[in-house]
Amino acid sequence: MKTDFLVIGSGIAGLTYALKVAQDCPDKKITILTKAKSDETNTKYAQGGIAGVWDKSHDSFEKHIEDTLIAGDGLCDKNIVEIVVREGVQRISELIEWGTRFDKEPDGDYKLGKEGGHSEYRILHHKDITGSEMERALLEAIKKYPNIELITHCFVVDIITQHHLGYLVTKSTPDIECFGVYVLNLNSNSTERILASTILLASGGNGQVYRSTTNPYIATGDGVAMVYRAKGRIENMEFIQFHPTALYEPGIRGQSFLITEAVRGDGGILRNANGEAFMKRYDEREDLAPRDIVARAIDNEMKVNGTEYVYLDCREMDREKFMEHFPNIYAKCKSIGIDIFHDMIPVSPAAHYSCGGIKTDEWAKTSIKNLYAAGECASTGLHGANRLASNSLLEAMVFAHRAYQDAMKQLSIKKNAYLHALEQIPEWNAAGTSVPKEMIVITQSVKELKMLMSDYVGIVRNNDRLQRANRRLDLLHEETETLYEKTQVSPQLCELRNMITVSYLIVKGAELRKESRGLHFNTDYPNRSEILQDTIL
Ligand code: FAD
Ligand code: SIN
Repeated sequence: MKTDFLVIGSGIAGLTYALKVAQDCPDKKITILTKAKSDETNTKYAQGGIAGVWDKSHDSFEKHIEDTLIAGDGLCDKNIVEIVVREGVQRISELIEWGTRFDKEPDGDYKLGKEGGHSEYRILHHKDITGSEMERALLEAIKKYPNIELITHCFVVDIITQHHLGYLVTKSTPDIECFGVYVLNLNSNSTERILASTILLASGGNGQVYRSTTNPYIATGDGVAMVYRAKGRIENMEFIQFHPTALYEPGIRGQSFLITEAVRGDGGILRNANGEAFMKRYDEREDLAPRDIVARAIDNEMKVNGTEYVYLDCREMDREKFMEHFPNIYAKCKSIGIDIFHDMIPVSPAAHYSCGGIKTDEWAKTSIKNLYAAGECASTGLHGANRLASNSLLEAMVFAHRAYQDAMKQLSIKKNAYLHALEQIPEWNAAGTSVPKEMIVITQSVKELKMLMSDYVGIVRNNDRLQRANRRLDLLHEETETLYEKTQVSPQLCELRNMITVSYLIVKGAELRKESRGLHFNTDYPNRSEILQDTIL
């Protein structure tokens, strides 16, 4: 199959880009691939909202920039921060034009929320299900464009580069180029080749490499792993953001339910097992300190008190306001026997967001030609060592837009040689592989992987634990590659392979960073280094 614009991922980044290209190029074909249902994305689960300088009478670009830089702990790219904050408001307006219904005050102004690290109220939201509302609006909007095709249950296995054409990347041909992807089409159960002249990776995050995560099952870091295999540039993978307050439900594996930070923005208070509001001992901003600080404080309280959770106390919050802003959280807690106006909510940190990823420039270009990346799989330089809450939906939109702008410029200069190269791409070669006899080796390896990442590469790290993680990953890698060579591809096997690669990149990044900064805390190097640098892999 051939298409003009190939988009991998149907979250906010992929859909925003597809919509813009479709508007501008009615005669071009845009194909969106997603490995699951159309809306099964991290985007759908976003709760708190999207940050933007909306109320200019109290807020300013400068304040949002400053808050982002402070959270990023010295590693943000200031130019990128400026771009995102200044262009973000226009992108939010587009979301509204596409049909997103943000909550409003009785006078018609948008209601603005506040989360950790923000000095002003600037978060637009739709109750506590903002992401689901955005995803709904975007999926509705793409239906208006007959030139957009969305193929669900189509698993991208690898991106195609000149390695697949048998060319070696040498000093005389230094540029790696992307020509399309190999997919496992689960609708027809066949492995296919999809060629395109422009490709956007918008494949989301990797929270699933940890035992406890707020991310849905699609978040296995496939895009990052594919780019790494294709010898593209990856950076800052050690900066994994743990959300401080995932609902603690014993026995729940897979995806933990999030209790949005906006609850603390509205007055929720963290308490330890003794009922003490402990955050004041850790940071003057108390419960609204940036996430890395709050997550580490909770981790410490749990260790000191020997508990698996702390509490979020909402008992004194205004009932009417709470029910209006957080009806989904109220209902979820109630469904497991917690009445939040009488009982405190047990919460613990969970892997939530990957700040690093595929290195991109200010036009969302990766180090591989014809390949853009936007959204959580990309590392733009916005977040530095720690992402400010509700900045990621904004970032995804801003860089989806910039990828679209750049792609429009490139459109006119696509070379014939390139189109000729497309003809030479071989079909997927499954020779010598067979159907796997049993799945247990894959599911067991996934469990081992999640365990080792959570136990050795979690909120607080040290050199011994990282070394242990590395040794165990080596073994998993070796076993999985052997299996991959002789087995027909399946999403489960590909995801395991990708999760091992991504875990390796997280550990490698953590080992290379000989300091503690932002989300990366290593007790063997408890201080910040004077040298500011990204970890390039
Ligand atoms: P996603 O929305 O995750 O979409 C990824 C897409 O890629 C999916 O369609 C998936 O199927 C597809 N895909 C992946 N791999 C493959 C493959 N191999 N083949 C084919 N398709 C593939 N951020 C905020 O700014 N504000 C918030 O309030 C907020 N709350 C959050 C709450 C939760 C519970 C979570 C999990 C995240 C939250 N975030 C929030 C973060 C934010 O939601 C994500 O960073 C953002 O939605 C990512 O969007 P995306 O388009 O990059 O990827
Ligand atoms: C939340 O609602 O607490 C999550 C916000 C985010 O991850 O940006």
